[in-house]
Amino acid sequence: MVFSERMDSFKPGIFSVLAAMKMERINAGKELIDLSVGTPNIPPAQHIIDALTESTRDKSNYIYAISDTEELQNAAAYWYETRYGVEIDPKTEVTSLLGSQDGLSHIALTVTDPGDLVLVQDPGYPVFSDGPRLAGAELYTMPQKRENGYIVNLKDIPEKIAAKAKFMVISYPNNPVTSIAPPSFYIELVAFAKKYDIIVLHDNAYSELTYDGNTCGSFLQYEGAKDVGVEFNSLSKTYGLAGARIGFAIGNSEIISALKLLKSNMDYGMFIPVQKAAVAALTGPQDCVKETRLAYEKRRNALVDGLNRIGWKMDRPPATMFVWAKIPEPFSNSELFTKELLDKAGVLITPGSAFGPSGEGYVRLALVQGEEALQEAVRLIDESGILK
Ligand SMILES: Cc1ncc(COP(=O)(O)O)c(C=O)c1O
Repeated sequence: MVFSERMDSFKPGIFSVLAAMKMERINAGKELIDLSVGTPNIPPAQHIIDALTESTRDKSNYIYAISDTEELQNAAAYWYETRYGVEIDPKTEVTSLLGSQDGLSHIALTVTDPGDLVLVQDPGYPVFSDGPRLAGAELYTMPQKRENGYIVNLKDIPEKIAAKAKFMVISYPNNPVTSIAPPSFYIELVAFAKKYDIIVLHDNAYSELTYDGNTCGSFLQYEGAKDVGVEFNSLSKTYGLAGARIGFAIGNSEIISALKLLKSNMDYGMFIPVQKAAVAALTGPQDCVKETRLAYEKRRNALVDGLNRIGWKMDRPPATMFVWAKIPEPFSNSELFTKELLDKAGVLITPGSAFGPSGEGYVRLALVQGEEALQEAVRLIDESGILK
């Protein structure tokens, strides 16, 4: 069999490699604490589960949905209005996605041709690059450096590159580096995009997971944003619905229309009971979001404060469900450190190099276990002697 050349550049993802390391350890009868993949383990609120289960009992809900129900479009617009103060036309400026990953991996097919240039963050969430690569686009990476507060410096992008770029993917609060961009960044971003005629895709998966009084809004609340781009949003972390696959692309109607057209050739829409669950989440009581935020904040404190106490120095992340930490001395290679941490302490994390070359020297720890397990991870790391 001969497979496509396109796939030659895709190696088994780092998460498959980590999963293999995990299986090897389990098969050897050893325990581990997994802080690698960002799978949220905080369940959805009861009213969301009720909406889902009630609608699964209705036999008429098993047809192809084909498109979004009006109720779902209105719920997404309602949420953007009440949460961010952003007005959205529910008919033309919203499309549901089978998880935001669906949109992020496919949208390049609508706006790029092979050889077109796409700007992505480094370190960055892998699908931001994988989607454009699937479409045959070329990538230019925008480093996120500690000295810039882990925010892309648009002024560093060479004129020639900016003039050639078709679109750029930006995401704050950022996975993996956890930074929040200030309003001045978004104002500069819209002006930059207009100057060079670049489409902006902003991924806002973590706007509800901010700590210490930090808050985040939407890219679309900045003047001119809808002229240049769209925002991706996800119910996976905000409402604990990761497995239900619910996300949205919202904003510029031309881009939304192109994405809807592409999707109409790819899938038959979101299962109607899942649409009902999304409506319940977006329009129902919001205390569950606050509870989720508080739970992650407590986990963050347990892990980061604990690791600082035993001598692994790192900052408390201002947002997201991740911790981004420099690997302790004398280590210099994040993958080797990750392997040794698993071997010696039984704690699985993700090497920073998995997110791009600027991630080398760092690791990402996901807050996907309860406080007790995180405290246990700290104890295991301390006892392993890896920090000594
Ligand atoms: C930054 C970011 N964007 C998008 C996603 C994908 O989310 P979804 O479950 O909506 O596909 C994730 C998942 O971890 C993420 O971290």
